[in-house]
Amino acid sequence: MESKARQSMLAIRIREAGGPDVLEPFETAVPAPTADQVLIEVAAAGVNRPDILQREGRYPVPEDASPLPGLEVAGTVAAVGDRVHDWHVGDRVMALTHGGGYAAYAVANAGSCMNVPRNMTTTEAAGVPETGLTVVYNVFMRSGLADGETLLVHGGSSGIGTMAIQLAKSRGCRVVTTAGSDEKCRFCEELGADLAINYRETEWSEVCREHLGGANVDVVLDMVAGDYVDLNLSLLRDSGRYSLIAFQGGYRTSVDLRPLVARRIALTGSTLRPRSVAEKTAIRDRAREILLPALATGQVKTVVDSTFPLAEAARAHRHMETGTHMGKIVLTTAAVA
Ligand SMILES: NC(=O)c1ccc[n+]([C@@H]2O[C@H](COP(=O)([O-])OP(=O)(O)OC[C@H]3O[C@@H](n4cnc5c(N)ncnc54)[C@H](OP(=O)(O)O)[C@@H]3O)[C@@H](O)[C@H]2O)c1
Repeated sequence: MESKARQSMLAIRIREAGGPDVLEPFETAVPAPTADQVLIEVAAAGVNRPDILQREGRYPVPEDASPLPGLEVAGTVAAVGDRVHDWHVGDRVMALTHGGGYAAYAVANAGSCMNVPRNMTTTEAAGVPETGLTVVYNVFMRSGLADGETLLVHGGSSGIGTMAIQLAKSRGCRVVTTAGSDEKCRFCEELGADLAINYRETEWSEVCREHLGGANVDVVLDMVAGDYVDLNLSLLRDSGRYSLIAFQGGYRTSVDLRPLVARRIALTGSTLRPRSVAEKTAIRDRAREILLPALATGQVKTVVDSTFPLAEAARAHRHMETGTHMGKIVLTTAAVA
């Protein structure tokens, strides 16, 4: 194995299920990559809402995953496993991790890594893998958003939302989104959304229907569920597609199922984390086709809301829980450029 790594490192662990203060820095051994993995010297790690669910004990860690939090990193390859031929020590990469991203070093499957385009900082790159692959899979692979179609995405100012708005716009799509304040709505429209609706102040589904001249949404990306399910279904056109990725509004609801039959709507859902190595590699490959070129030309950018030193992960989680952020929250290590 080609290697250039240290023996021990700073990482963040979850002491027990609970609030942000259960995130504690500790010194631990640098993980060893398997034959199909690379070891990354982490410069920056993205913070995602699922990290909060994991910290609270509401998002079980898959058996084969690291118990440490952190689903995405960017940095430099420090070692490669014996069967890895497409990555080399010194390569600048961004990668989906199977946990363990909140650390100075993290392992990732070779098939979960992507080159960092030259125009991106490592901090920006750390915000790409989890949101990018989630959007690519759900919106493009699963729900088949085609160029020029109309996407409705909830939570437009979130990490996921900012990625979905920009990527859909880079494909010539029309985008309607929801957000929880006028400031967030303005931010979403500056990112390219054709219409951003303040869901706290208006009947967002009525405003959306009026803007589109009826039930004219081709694809919904929904992280809310609950009462939104019925409304989303009512806005989809014939043969519309609905991708559900989270349940911030509740996972039990009463739904009028007739649109699924009468208008041939496809309702689907997924979560990225437990997918197999082969599935994640296939999603990464699709991201290389549609996301990387858009990042390289600057059509899609990571909007970095704020950065925190790795050791202050608890403060980063507290910030996410205020819900005031717009875009990505990123942890940085001593290796950040
Ligand atoms: N299934 C998967 O594979 C997968 C992968 C990654 C993330 N996710 C999920 O995707 C969501 C976003 O993740 P993130 O890391 O980007 O988190 P984030 O930045 O914290 O975003 C959460 C967003 O949810 C929005 N929201 C909450 N209630 C809403 C409502 N009633 N109507 C409209 N928007 C609402 C918030 O909007 P306001 O702040 O404007 O109120 C905020 O923009 C999370 O629920 C996460 O669990 C799923």
